[in-house]
Amino acid sequence: MACPLYLLILVLGVVLQSLSVHSRVEQKGRTCTVVPEGHGRDDSASIISAFARCNKDASVVFLNETYHVERVMSTHGLENVTVDIKGTLVWGTNTTYWINNSLPLGYQNQSVAWDFGGDNVFWTGHGYGTFDGNGQIWYDLANGTSNMAGRPINLVIRNSTNFTMQGMRFVQSQFWTMAVHTAQNVLLEGITIRSVSNSSAPTQNTDGIDTFYTNNITLRNWDVTGGDDAVAPKANTSNLLVQDSHFHITSGVAIGSIGQYPGVYEFIENVTAERIICDGCHHVGHVKTWTGVELGVPPNGGGGGLGFARNVVFRDYTVTNISQGVAVITQCTSYNNLTGDCDTSTFQISNITWANITGTVSNALLGSLQCSGAAPCTDIFIEGVEGLVFYNTTLPEPAVECSNVMLGPGSVTCNGNMTIS
Ligand SMILES: *[C@@H]1O[C@H](CO)[C@@H](O)[C@H](O)[C@H]1NC(C)=O
Ligand SMILES: *[C@@H]1O[C@H](CO)[C@@H](O)[C@H](O)[C@H]1NC(C)=O
Ligand SMILES: *[C@@H]1O[C@H](CO)[C@@H](O)[C@H](O)[C@H]1NC(C)=O
Ligand SMILES: *[C@@H]1O[C@H](CO)[C@@H](O)[C@H](O)[C@H]1NC(C)=O
Ligand SMILES: *[C@@H]1O[C@H](CO)[C@@H](O)[C@H](O)[C@H]1NC(C)=O
Ligand SMILES: *[C@@H]1O[C@H](CO)[C@@H](O)[C@H](O)[C@H]1NC(C)=O
Ligand SMILES: *[C@@H]1O[C@H](CO)[C@@H](O)[C@H](O)[C@H]1NC(C)=O
Ligand SMILES: *[C@@H]1O[C@H](CO)[C@@H](O)[C@H](O)[C@H]1NC(C)=O
Ligand SMILES: *[C@@H]1O[C@H](CO)[C@@H](O)[C@H](O)[C@H]1NC(C)=O
Ligand SMILES: *[C@@H]1O[C@H](CO)[C@@H](O)[C@H](O)[C@H]1NC(C)=O
Ligand SMILES: *[C@@H]1O[C@H](CO)[C@@H](O)[C@H](O)[C@H]1NC(C)=O
Ligand SMILES: *[C@@H]1O[C@H](CO)[C@@H](O)[C@H](O)[C@H]1NC(C)=O
Repeated sequence: MACPLYLLILVLGVVLQSLSVHSRVEQKGRTCTVVPEGHGRDDSASIISAFARCNKDASVVFLNETYHVERVMSTHGLENVTVDIKGTLVWGTNTTYWINNSLPLGYQNQSVAWDFGGDNVFWTGHGYGTFDGNGQIWYDLANGTSNMAGRPINLVIRNSTNFTMQGMRFVQSQFWTMAVHTAQNVLLEGITIRSVSNSSAPTQNTDGIDTFYTNNITLRNWDVTGGDDAVAPKANTSNLLVQDSHFHITSGVAIGSIGQYPGVYEFIENVTAERIICDGCHHVGHVKTWTGVELGVPPNGGGGGLGFARNVVFRDYTVTNISQGVAVITQCTSYNNLTGDCDTSTFQISNITWANITGTVSNALLGSLQCSGAAPCTDIFIEGVEGLVFYNTTLPEPAVECSNVMLGPGSVTCNGNMTIS
Protein backbone atom coordinates (compact mmCIF):
# COMPACT_ATOMS: atom_id res chain seq x y z
CA MET A 1 0.00 0.00 0.00
CA ALA A 2 1.33 3.44 -0.89
CA CYS A 3 2.37 5.60 1.96
CA PRO A 4 0.35 8.81 2.02
CA LEU A 5 2.42 11.88 1.26
CA TYR A 6 1.35 13.69 4.43
CA LEU A 7 2.67 10.78 6.52
CA LEU A 8 6.03 10.93 4.75
CA ILE A 9 6.25 14.66 5.39
CA LEU A 10 5.30 14.10 9.02
CA VAL A 11 7.98 11.41 9.52
CA LEU A 12 10.59 13.51 7.75
CA GLY A 13 9.67 16.50 9.91
CA VAL A 14 10.06 14.47 13.11
CA VAL A 15 13.44 13.13 12.00
CA LEU A 16 14.70 16.60 11.05
CA GLN A 17 13.45 18.02 14.32
CA SER A 18 15.18 15.37 16.40
CA LEU A 19 18.39 16.06 14.51
CA SER A 20 18.12 19.79 15.12
CA VAL A 21 17.57 19.31 18.88
CA HIS A 22 21.24 18.63 19.31
CA SER A 23 22.26 16.90 22.48
CA ARG A 24 25.50 15.37 23.63
CA VAL A 25 24.99 12.69 26.25
CA GLU A 26 27.15 9.61 26.67
CA GLN A 27 25.21 6.84 28.30
CA LYS A 28 26.88 3.80 29.87
CA GLY A 29 24.40 1.63 31.71
CA ARG A 30 22.57 3.84 34.17
CA THR A 31 25.08 6.69 33.98
CA CYS A 32 24.50 9.62 31.65
CA THR A 33 27.44 11.97 31.17
CA VAL A 34 26.73 15.39 29.73
CA VAL A 35 29.47 16.27 27.26
CA PRO A 36 29.84 20.02 26.73
CA GLU A 37 29.47 21.42 23.24
CA GLY A 38 32.38 23.75 23.79
CA HIS A 39 32.92 27.07 21.97
CA GLY A 40 30.33 28.71 24.25
CA ARG A 41 27.47 26.78 22.65
CA ASP A 42 24.30 26.07 24.60
CA ASP A 43 24.31 22.84 26.61
CA SER A 44 20.76 23.06 27.98
CA ALA A 45 19.31 20.52 25.49
CA SER A 46 22.01 18.01 26.45
CA ILE A 47 21.36 18.52 30.16
CA ILE A 48 17.60 18.05 29.74
CA SER A 49 18.23 14.96 27.62
CA ALA A 50 20.57 13.45 30.25
CA PHE A 51 17.94 13.83 32.98
CA ALA A 52 15.24 12.38 30.69
CA ARG A 53 17.35 9.30 29.91
CA CYS A 54 18.81 8.73 33.37
CA ASN A 55 15.74 9.58 35.41
CA LYS A 56 15.46 6.51 37.64
CA ASP A 57 18.02 4.50 39.64
CA ALA A 58 20.72 6.33 37.73
CA SER A 59 23.43 8.99 37.73
CA VAL A 60 23.84 12.18 35.74
CA VAL A 61 27.45 13.33 35.54
CA PHE A 62 28.91 16.72 34.61
CA LEU A 63 32.63 16.61 33.79
CA ASN A 64 35.29 19.01 35.03
CA GLU A 65 34.46 21.32 32.14
CA THR A 66 32.47 24.48 31.51
CA TYR A 67 28.83 24.15 30.44
CA HIS A 68 26.74 26.99 29.04
CA VAL A 69 23.04 27.30 29.83
CA GLU A 70 21.25 29.61 27.44
CA ARG A 71 17.70 28.30 27.88
CA VAL A 72 15.35 27.56 30.77
CA MET A 73 15.41 23.97 32.01
CA SER A 74 12.72 21.87 33.67
CA THR A 75 13.81 18.44 34.85
CA HIS A 76 11.25 16.60 36.95
CA GLY A 77 10.03 13.21 38.08
CA LEU A 78 13.48 11.90 38.97
CA GLU A 79 13.60 8.86 41.26
CA ASN A 80 16.74 7.69 43.05
CA VAL A 81 19.15 9.76 40.96
CA THR A 82 22.67 10.95 41.76
CA VAL A 83 23.69 14.28 40.27
CA ASP A 84 27.47 14.54 40.12
CA ILE A 85 28.85 17.96 39.21
CA LYS A 86 32.60 18.28 38.73
CA GLY A 87 32.51 21.35 36.52
CA THR A 88 30.95 24.78 36.15
CA LEU A 89 27.57 25.67 34.67
CA VAL A 90 27.51 29.25 33.40
CA TRP A 91 24.19 30.93 32.70
CA GLY A 92 23.71 33.06 29.58
CA THR A 93 23.50 36.84 29.58
CA ASN A 94 20.66 37.39 27.10
CA THR A 95 18.46 39.18 29.61
CA THR A 96 15.75 39.69 26.95
CA TYR A 97 15.46 35.93 26.59
CA TRP A 98 15.34 35.25 30.33
CA ILE A 99 12.86 38.03 31.09
CA ASN A 100 10.50 36.58 28.49
CA ASN A 101 11.03 32.90 29.22
CA SER A 102 11.92 32.31 32.88
CA LEU A 103 9.62 29.68 34.39
CA PRO A 104 7.05 30.62 37.06
CA LEU A 105 8.01 29.92 40.67
CA GLY A 106 4.34 29.75 41.65
CA TYR A 107 4.64 32.40 44.35
CA GLN A 108 5.14 36.16 44.42
CA ASN A 109 5.18 36.24 40.60
CA GLN A 110 8.84 35.27 40.78
CA SER A 111 10.51 33.14 38.12
CA VAL A 112 13.28 30.59 37.77
CA ALA A 113 16.00 29.48 35.36
CA TRP A 114 16.13 25.78 36.34
CA ASP A 115 13.11 23.99 37.81
CA PHE A 116 14.27 20.71 39.32
CA GLY A 117 12.39 17.94 41.12
CA GLY A 118 12.55 14.34 42.17
CA ASP A 119 12.50 11.93 45.09
CA ASN A 120 15.58 10.42 46.68
CA VAL A 121 17.98 12.65 44.81
CA PHE A 122 21.59 12.87 45.92
CA TRP A 123 23.44 15.83 44.40
CA THR A 124 27.14 16.37 44.96
CA GLY A 125 29.46 19.12 43.80
CA HIS A 126 32.46 17.69 45.68
CA GLY A 127 33.11 21.16 47.12
CA TYR A 128 33.96 22.59 43.68
CA GLY A 129 30.99 21.99 41.37
CA THR A 130 29.86 25.52 40.52
CA PHE A 131 26.86 27.47 39.22
CA ASP A 132 27.84 30.83 37.80
CA GLY A 133 24.71 32.95 37.26
CA ASN A 134 26.60 35.73 35.45
CA GLY A 135 24.70 37.99 37.82
CA GLN A 136 26.56 41.24 37.17
CA ILE A 137 24.48 41.89 34.09
CA TRP A 138 21.35 41.55 36.27
CA TYR A 139 22.70 43.74 39.07
CA ASP A 140 23.46 46.46 36.51
CA LEU A 141 20.12 46.04 34.74
CA ALA A 142 18.06 46.15 37.96
CA ASN A 143 20.36 48.74 39.63
CA GLY A 144 18.25 48.88 42.76
CA THR A 145 14.87 47.99 41.23
CA SER A 146 13.43 45.50 43.71
CA ASN A 147 12.17 42.17 42.34
CA MET A 148 12.52 42.97 38.65
CA ALA A 149 10.03 40.92 36.59
CA GLY A 150 11.59 37.89 34.91
CA ARG A 151 14.92 38.17 36.73
CA PRO A 152 15.36 34.48 37.48
CA ILE A 153 16.10 32.51 40.63
CA ASN A 154 18.96 30.24 39.59
CA LEU A 155 17.51 26.94 40.88
CA VAL A 156 14.24 25.81 42.42
CA ILE A 157 13.99 22.41 44.06
CA ARG A 158 10.32 21.49 43.71
CA ASN A 159 7.97 18.63 44.47
CA SER A 160 10.77 16.68 46.07
CA THR A 161 11.06 14.29 49.00
CA ASN A 162 14.44 13.18 50.31
CA PHE A 163 16.70 15.58 48.49
CA THR A 164 20.35 16.00 49.49
CA MET A 165 22.82 18.46 48.00
CA GLN A 166 26.43 18.65 49.17
CA GLY A 167 29.48 20.69 48.30
CA MET A 168 28.19 23.14 45.72
CA ARG A 169 29.39 26.66 44.97
CA PHE A 170 27.10 29.37 43.61
CA VAL A 171 28.70 32.55 42.33
CA GLN A 172 27.11 35.72 40.94
CA SER A 173 23.54 34.46 41.12
CA GLN A 174 21.11 36.30 38.87
CA PHE A 175 18.60 36.87 41.71
CA TRP A 176 17.88 34.60 44.70
CA THR A 177 20.31 31.71 44.40
CA MET A 178 17.81 29.04 45.36
CA ALA A 179 14.21 28.40 46.27
CA VAL A 180 12.61 25.26 47.65
CA HIS A 181 8.90 24.90 46.83
CA THR A 182 6.77 21.98 48.00
CA ALA A 183 9.38 19.63 49.41
CA GLN A 184 10.27 17.69 52.50
CA ASN A 185 13.30 16.01 54.02
CA VAL A 186 15.79 18.26 52.31
CA LEU A 187 19.43 18.51 53.38
CA LEU A 188 21.63 21.14 51.77
CA GLU A 189 25.14 21.16 53.20
CA GLY A 190 28.51 22.59 52.38
CA ILE A 191 27.02 25.33 50.21
CA THR A 192 29.03 28.42 49.31
CA ILE A 193 27.24 31.40 47.83
CA ARG A 194 28.99 34.53 46.69
CA SER A 195 27.20 37.33 44.84
CA VAL A 196 29.17 40.57 44.76
CA SER A 197 28.71 43.55 42.45
CA ASN A 198 31.76 45.07 40.78
CA SER A 199 29.85 48.19 39.72
CA SER A 200 27.88 50.91 41.49
CA ALA A 201 24.71 48.78 41.20
CA PRO A 202 23.79 46.87 44.36
CA THR A 203 23.26 43.12 44.64
CA GLN A 204 19.72 43.65 45.90
CA ASN A 205 17.53 40.51 46.03
CA THR A 206 20.44 38.09 45.92
CA ASP A 207 18.97 36.02 48.75
CA GLY A 208 20.69 32.71 49.46
CA ILE A 209 17.53 30.63 49.73
CA ASP A 210 13.78 31.16 50.12
CA THR A 211 11.40 28.36 51.15
CA PHE A 212 7.67 27.76 50.46
CA TYR A 213 5.41 24.85 51.45
CA THR A 214 8.31 22.91 52.90
CA ASN A 215 8.78 20.70 55.93
CA ASN A 216 12.01 19.42 57.45
CA ILE A 217 14.79 21.28 55.67
CA THR A 218 18.30 21.35 57.11
CA LEU A 219 20.89 23.85 55.92
CA ARG A 220 24.29 23.05 57.35
CA ASN A 221 27.71 24.54 56.77
CA TRP A 222 26.68 27.38 54.50
CA ASP A 223 28.90 30.33 53.66
CA VAL A 224 26.91 33.21 52.18
CA THR A 225 28.02 36.57 50.83
CA GLY A 226 25.22 38.48 49.17
CA GLY A 227 23.14 41.59 49.06
CA ASP A 228 20.02 40.46 50.86
CA ASP A 229 18.72 37.72 53.16
CA ALA A 230 20.96 34.66 53.49
CA VAL A 231 18.00 32.46 54.39
CA ALA A 232 14.36 33.55 54.10
CA PRO A 233 11.65 31.06 55.06
CA LYS A 234 8.31 32.17 53.68
CA ALA A 235 4.80 30.68 53.28
CA ASN A 236 4.16 27.41 55.10
CA THR A 237 7.67 26.59 56.14
CA SER A 238 7.97 24.23 59.10
CA ASN A 239 10.89 22.58 60.83
CA LEU A 240 13.71 24.50 59.21
CA LEU A 241 17.11 24.05 60.82
CA VAL A 242 20.07 26.28 59.93
CA GLN A 243 23.37 25.26 61.52
CA ASP A 244 27.10 25.91 61.56
CA SER A 245 27.06 28.63 58.97
CA HIS A 246 28.88 31.86 58.19
CA PHE A 247 27.05 34.84 56.73
CA HIS A 248 28.83 37.92 55.43
CA ILE A 249 27.13 41.29 54.79
CA THR A 250 23.64 39.87 54.47
CA SER A 251 20.46 40.19 56.48
CA GLY A 252 21.20 36.75 57.97
CA VAL A 253 18.14 34.63 58.63
CA ALA A 254 15.00 36.66 57.90
CA ILE A 255 11.62 35.13 58.69
CA GLY A 256 9.31 36.40 55.90
CA SER A 257 8.25 38.84 54.72
CA ILE A 258 5.01 36.99 55.07
CA GLY A 259 1.33 37.95 54.96
CA GLN A 260 1.54 39.29 51.43
CA TYR A 261 -1.65 37.72 50.03
CA PRO A 262 -4.91 39.29 51.28
CA GLY A 263 -7.11 36.85 53.16
CA VAL A 264 -4.71 33.95 52.63
CA TYR A 265 -3.69 31.99 55.74
CA GLU A 266 0.00 31.07 55.94
CA PHE A 267 2.41 30.03 58.67
CA ILE A 268 6.06 29.67 59.61
CA GLU A 269 6.67 27.28 62.48
CA ASN A 270 9.72 25.77 64.17
CA VAL A 271 12.73 27.54 62.75
CA THR A 272 16.06 27.18 64.54
CA ALA A 273 19.24 28.97 63.49
CA GLU A 274 22.23 28.03 65.62
CA ARG A 275 26.00 28.20 65.71
CA ILE A 276 26.14 31.02 63.19
CA ILE A 277 28.87 33.55 62.53
CA CYS A 278 27.46 36.80 61.13
CA ASP A 279 29.97 39.41 59.92
CA GLY A 280 28.54 42.81 59.06
CA CYS A 281 25.03 41.41 59.01
CA HIS A 282 22.10 43.77 59.33
CA HIS A 283 20.52 41.71 62.11
CA VAL A 284 20.95 38.50 64.02
CA GLY A 285 17.34 37.63 63.27
CA HIS A 286 14.50 39.55 61.65
CA VAL A 287 10.83 38.55 61.62
CA LYS A 288 8.83 40.60 59.14
CA THR A 289 5.25 40.72 57.91
CA TRP A 290 3.34 42.82 55.45
CA THR A 291 0.81 45.29 56.83
CA GLY A 292 -2.88 44.39 57.08
CA VAL A 293 -3.68 46.68 54.17
CA GLU A 294 -3.34 45.45 50.59
CA LEU A 295 -1.42 47.91 48.43
CA GLY A 296 -0.29 46.74 44.99
CA VAL A 297 0.41 43.16 43.98
CA PRO A 298 3.35 40.78 44.57
CA PRO A 299 6.26 40.77 44.38
CA ASN A 300 6.60 44.43 45.31
CA GLY A 301 3.11 44.95 46.70
CA GLY A 302 0.51 43.10 48.71
CA GLY A 303 -0.48 42.83 52.35
CA GLY A 304 -3.51 41.75 54.34
CA GLY A 305 -2.39 38.14 54.82
CA LEU A 306 -3.43 36.03 57.80
CA GLY A 307 -1.65 33.39 59.86
CA PHE A 308 1.18 33.01 62.33
CA ALA A 309 4.93 32.72 62.85
CA ARG A 310 5.98 30.91 66.02
CA ASN A 311 8.65 28.84 67.71
CA VAL A 312 11.64 30.57 66.17
CA VAL A 313 15.08 30.50 67.83
CA PHE A 314 18.28 32.32 66.89
CA ARG A 315 21.00 31.03 69.20
CA ASP A 316 24.72 30.68 69.63
CA TYR A 317 25.72 33.48 67.29
CA THR A 318 29.12 35.15 67.04
CA VAL A 319 28.75 38.52 65.33
CA THR A 320 30.75 41.50 64.19
CA ASN A 321 29.28 44.89 63.38
CA ILE A 322 25.56 44.12 63.44
CA SER A 323 24.28 47.28 61.80
CA GLN A 324 20.50 47.51 62.13
CA GLY A 325 19.54 45.90 65.42
CA VAL A 326 20.26 42.48 66.89
CA ALA A 327 16.67 41.33 67.44
CA VAL A 328 14.22 42.82 64.99
CA ILE A 329 10.50 42.44 64.33
CA THR A 330 8.65 44.57 61.81
CA GLN A 331 5.01 44.28 60.71
CA CYS A 332 5.27 47.19 58.35
CA THR A 333 6.37 45.78 54.99
CA SER A 334 4.45 47.72 52.35
CA TYR A 335 4.19 48.42 48.62
CA ASN A 336 7.38 49.86 47.19
CA ASN A 337 8.57 50.74 50.66
CA LEU A 338 5.60 52.96 51.51
CA THR A 339 5.22 53.65 55.20
CA GLY A 340 2.26 53.51 57.55
CA ASP A 341 -0.47 51.03 58.55
CA CYS A 342 2.01 49.42 60.95
CA ASP A 343 -0.72 48.50 63.42
CA THR A 344 -3.00 46.74 60.94
CA SER A 345 -1.49 43.28 60.37
CA THR A 346 -3.37 40.44 62.08
CA PHE A 347 -0.48 38.05 61.38
CA GLN A 348 0.36 36.63 64.81
CA ILE A 349 4.00 36.50 65.92
CA SER A 350 4.78 34.51 69.06
CA ASN A 351 7.51 32.58 70.83
CA ILE A 352 10.58 34.12 69.20
CA THR A 353 13.94 33.82 70.99
CA TRP A 354 17.33 35.43 70.46
CA ALA A 355 19.82 33.79 72.81
CA ASN A 356 23.50 33.43 73.57
CA ILE A 357 25.01 35.98 71.24
CA THR A 358 28.51 37.42 71.51
CA GLY A 359 30.38 39.99 69.44
CA THR A 360 30.00 43.58 68.35
CA VAL A 361 27.10 45.81 67.34
CA SER A 362 27.73 49.07 65.49
CA ASN A 363 25.00 51.01 67.29
CA ALA A 364 23.14 50.72 70.59
CA LEU A 365 20.20 48.73 69.28
CA LEU A 366 19.67 45.35 70.90
CA GLY A 367 15.98 45.09 70.12
CA SER A 368 13.71 46.81 67.64
CA LEU A 369 10.39 45.06 68.09
CA GLN A 370 7.61 46.64 66.11
CA CYS A 371 4.54 44.46 66.43
CA SER A 372 1.11 45.21 65.06
CA GLY A 373 -1.52 46.75 67.33
CA ALA A 374 -4.06 44.42 65.69
CA ALA A 375 -2.08 41.33 66.83
CA PRO A 376 0.48 42.12 69.55
CA CYS A 377 3.46 39.74 69.77
CA THR A 378 3.64 37.32 72.69
CA ASP A 379 6.51 35.36 74.21
CA ILE A 380 9.39 37.38 72.86
CA PHE A 381 12.71 36.51 74.53
CA ILE A 382 16.19 38.04 74.34
CA GLU A 383 18.67 36.35 76.66
CA GLY A 384 22.33 35.59 77.06
CA VAL A 385 23.52 38.76 75.32
CA GLU A 386 25.97 39.94 78.01
CA GLY A 387 28.77 39.07 75.62
CA LEU A 388 27.72 41.75 73.12
CA VAL A 389 29.70 44.97 72.87
CA PHE A 390 27.74 47.98 71.66
CA TYR A 391 29.93 50.58 70.02
CA ASN A 392 27.54 53.39 70.87
CA THR A 393 28.00 53.89 74.58
CA THR A 394 26.02 57.11 74.96
CA LEU A 395 23.11 55.07 76.35
CA PRO A 396 23.29 53.58 79.86
CA GLU A 397 22.22 50.21 78.51
CA PRO A 398 21.49 48.73 75.09
CA ALA A 399 18.17 49.89 73.65
CA VAL A 400 15.19 47.57 73.31
CA GLU A 401 12.51 49.56 71.57
CA CYS A 402 9.06 48.01 71.59
CA SER A 403 5.65 48.55 70.14
CA ASN A 404 2.79 46.17 70.96
CA VAL A 405 4.95 43.54 72.64
CA MET A 406 3.04 41.66 75.35
CA LEU A 407 5.27 41.21 78.37
CA GLY A 408 5.18 37.99 80.38
CA PRO A 409 7.37 35.87 82.64
CA GLY A 410 10.95 35.81 81.38
CA SER A 411 10.12 37.84 78.32
CA VAL A 412 12.06 40.78 76.95
CA THR A 413 12.41 43.99 78.94
CA CYS A 414 11.60 47.02 76.85
CA ASN A 415 13.32 50.30 77.71
CA GLY A 416 12.13 52.45 74.88
CA ASN A 417 9.11 53.07 72.75
CA MET A 418 9.40 53.34 69.03
CA THR A 419 8.24 56.11 66.81
CA ILE A 420 6.50 54.49 63.90
CA SER A 421 5.56 56.17 60.69
C1 LIG B 1 19.22 3.48 43.38
O1 LIG B 1 19.97 3.49 42.19
C2 LIG B 1 21.20 2.78 42.27
C3 LIG B 1 21.91 2.93 40.96
O2 LIG B 1 22.29 4.26 40.79
C4 LIG B 1 20.93 1.34 42.62
O3 LIG B 1 22.16 0.68 42.80
C5 LIG B 1 20.11 1.25 43.88
O4 LIG B 1 19.75 -0.09 44.11
C6 LIG B 1 18.85 2.07 43.75
N1 LIG B 1 18.13 2.08 45.02
C7 LIG B 1 16.88 1.65 45.10
C8 LIG B 1 16.27 1.74 46.47
O5 LIG B 1 16.26 1.23 44.16
C1 LIG C 1 39.62 20.61 36.66
O1 LIG C 1 40.43 20.80 35.53
C2 LIG C 1 41.41 21.82 35.65
C3 LIG C 1 42.17 21.94 34.37
O2 LIG C 1 41.28 22.03 33.30
C4 LIG C 1 42.36 21.46 36.77
O3 LIG C 1 43.27 22.53 36.97
C5 LIG C 1 41.59 21.23 38.05
O4 LIG C 1 42.46 20.77 39.05
C6 LIG C 1 40.50 20.20 37.82
N1 LIG C 1 39.72 20.13 39.02
C7 LIG C 1 39.45 18.97 39.59
C8 LIG C 1 38.70 19.07 40.86
O5 LIG C 1 39.73 17.91 39.12
C1 LIG D 1 5.22 15.41 42.06
O1 LIG D 1 6.05 14.27 41.95
C2 LIG D 1 5.33 13.07 41.94
C3 LIG D 1 6.35 11.96 42.01
O2 LIG D 1 7.38 12.16 41.08
C4 LIG D 1 4.45 13.01 40.69
O3 LIG D 1 3.72 11.82 40.68
C5 LIG D 1 3.49 14.20 40.72
O4 LIG D 1 2.76 14.26 39.52
C6 LIG D 1 4.26 15.49 40.88
N1 LIG D 1 3.31 16.56 41.13
C7 LIG D 1 3.29 17.67 40.42
C8 LIG D 1 2.26 18.68 40.79
O5 LIG D 1 4.07 17.86 39.51
C1 LIG E 1 18.28 37.30 22.86
O1 LIG E 1 17.05 36.64 22.99
C2 LIG E 1 16.04 37.24 22.21
C3 LIG E 1 14.71 36.61 22.62
O2 LIG E 1 14.83 35.23 22.72
C4 LIG E 1 16.39 37.04 20.75
O3 LIG E 1 15.40 37.61 19.94
C5 LIG E 1 17.72 37.70 20.49
O4 LIG E 1 18.13 37.42 19.18
C6 LIG E 1 18.78 37.21 21.45
N1 LIG E 1 19.96 38.03 21.33
C7 LIG E 1 21.14 37.50 21.12
C8 LIG E 1 22.28 38.47 21.07
O5 LIG E 1 21.30 36.31 20.99
C1 LIG F 1 12.17 9.14 52.00
O1 LIG F 1 13.11 8.48 52.83
C2 LIG F 1 12.48 7.75 53.87
C3 LIG F 1 13.58 7.26 54.78
O2 LIG F 1 14.63 6.72 54.06
C4 LIG F 1 11.67 6.63 53.24
O3 LIG F 1 11.01 5.91 54.25
C5 LIG F 1 10.62 7.23 52.31
O4 LIG F 1 9.93 6.21 51.63
C6 LIG F 1 11.26 8.14 51.29
N1 LIG F 1 10.23 8.86 50.55
C7 LIG F 1 10.06 8.73 49.23
C8 LIG F 1 8.98 9.54 48.61
O5 LIG F 1 10.76 8.01 48.55
C1 LIG G 1 14.13 15.01 57.98
O1 LIG G 1 15.00 14.96 56.87
C2 LIG G 1 16.18 14.23 57.11
C3 LIG G 1 17.02 14.37 55.87
O2 LIG G 1 17.54 15.66 55.83
C4 LIG G 1 15.86 12.80 57.42
O3 LIG G 1 17.03 12.11 57.73
C5 LIG G 1 14.91 12.74 58.59
O4 LIG G 1 14.50 11.42 58.79
C6 LIG G 1 13.70 13.60 58.34
N1 LIG G 1 12.88 13.67 59.53
C7 LIG G 1 11.61 13.30 59.54
C8 LIG G 1 10.90 13.45 60.84
O5 LIG G 1 11.06 12.86 58.54
C1 LIG H 1 22.75 53.02 39.01
O1 LIG H 1 21.93 54.16 39.17
C2 LIG H 1 22.62 55.27 39.73
C3 LIG H 1 21.59 56.36 40.05
O2 LIG H 1 20.75 56.57 38.97
C4 LIG H 1 23.67 55.73 38.75
O3 LIG H 1 24.38 56.82 39.28
C5 LIG H 1 24.63 54.58 38.49
O4 LIG H 1 25.57 54.92 37.49
C6 LIG H 1 23.87 53.32 38.05
N1 LIG H 1 24.80 52.23 38.01
C7 LIG H 1 24.87 51.38 36.98
C8 LIG H 1 25.88 50.29 37.10
O5 LIG H 1 24.14 51.46 36.02
C1 LIG I 1 6.66 22.21 65.80
O1 LIG I 1 7.35 21.62 66.89
C2 LIG I 1 6.49 21.18 67.91
C3 LIG I 1 7.37 20.65 69.03
O2 LIG I 1 8.28 21.61 69.42
C4 LIG I 1 5.57 20.10 67.39
O3 LIG I 1 4.65 19.75 68.38
C5 LIG I 1 4.79 20.63 66.19
O4 LIG I 1 4.06 19.60 65.60
C6 LIG I 1 5.76 21.17 65.15
N1 LIG I 1 5.01 21.78 64.06
C7 LIG I 1 5.03 21.29 62.83
C8 LIG I 1 4.21 22.01 61.80
O5 LIG I 1 5.68 20.31 62.52
C1 LIG J 1 8.78 27.90 71.83
O1 LIG J 1 9.68 27.54 70.78
C2 LIG J 1 10.66 26.63 71.20
C3 LIG J 1 11.61 26.43 70.03
O2 LIG J 1 10.96 25.97 68.91
C4 LIG J 1 10.03 25.33 71.62
O3 LIG J 1 11.02 24.46 72.09
C5 LIG J 1 9.02 25.59 72.72
O4 LIG J 1 8.33 24.41 73.01
C6 LIG J 1 8.04 26.65 72.27
N1 LIG J 1 7.17 26.99 73.38
C7 LIG J 1 5.87 26.82 73.33
C8 LIG J 1 5.11 27.24 74.55
O5 LIG J 1 5.31 26.34 72.35
C1 LIG K 1 13.26 51.16 52.14
O1 LIG K 1 13.36 51.99 53.29
C2 LIG K 1 14.48 51.69 54.09
C3 LIG K 1 14.38 52.51 55.36
O2 LIG K 1 14.01 53.83 55.08
C4 LIG K 1 15.76 52.00 53.30
O3 LIG K 1 16.89 51.67 54.06
C5 LIG K 1 15.75 51.14 52.03
O4 LIG K 1 16.86 51.49 51.22
C6 LIG K 1 14.47 51.37 51.23
N1 LIG K 1 14.40 50.43 50.13
C7 LIG K 1 14.03 50.77 48.90
C8 LIG K 1 13.98 49.68 47.91
O5 LIG K 1 13.73 51.91 48.59
C1 LIG L 1 21.74 29.70 76.25
O1 LIG L 1 22.83 29.19 76.98
C2 LIG L 1 22.48 28.76 78.30
C3 LIG L 1 23.74 28.42 79.04
O2 LIG L 1 24.49 27.53 78.29
C4 LIG L 1 21.53 27.60 78.19
O3 LIG L 1 21.10 27.19 79.47
C5 LIG L 1 20.29 28.04 77.41
O4 LIG L 1 19.44 26.94 77.18
C6 LIG L 1 20.69 28.62 76.06
N1 LIG L 1 19.49 29.17 75.41
C7 LIG L 1 19.00 28.69 74.27
C8 LIG L 1 17.76 29.31 73.77
O5 LIG L 1 19.55 27.81 73.62
C1 LIG M 1 24.34 56.76 69.63
O1 LIG M 1 22.97 56.57 69.96
C2 LIG M 1 22.24 57.79 70.11
C3 LIG M 1 20.85 57.43 70.61
O2 LIG M 1 20.28 56.42 69.82
C4 LIG M 1 22.23 58.48 68.75
O3 LIG M 1 21.55 59.71 68.86
C5 LIG M 1 23.65 58.73 68.29
O4 LIG M 1 23.64 59.24 66.98
C6 LIG M 1 24.46 57.42 68.28
N1 LIG M 1 25.86 57.66 67.98
C7 LIG M 1 26.55 56.89 67.12
C8 LIG M 1 28.02 57.25 67.00
O5 LIG M 1 26.07 55.98 66.50
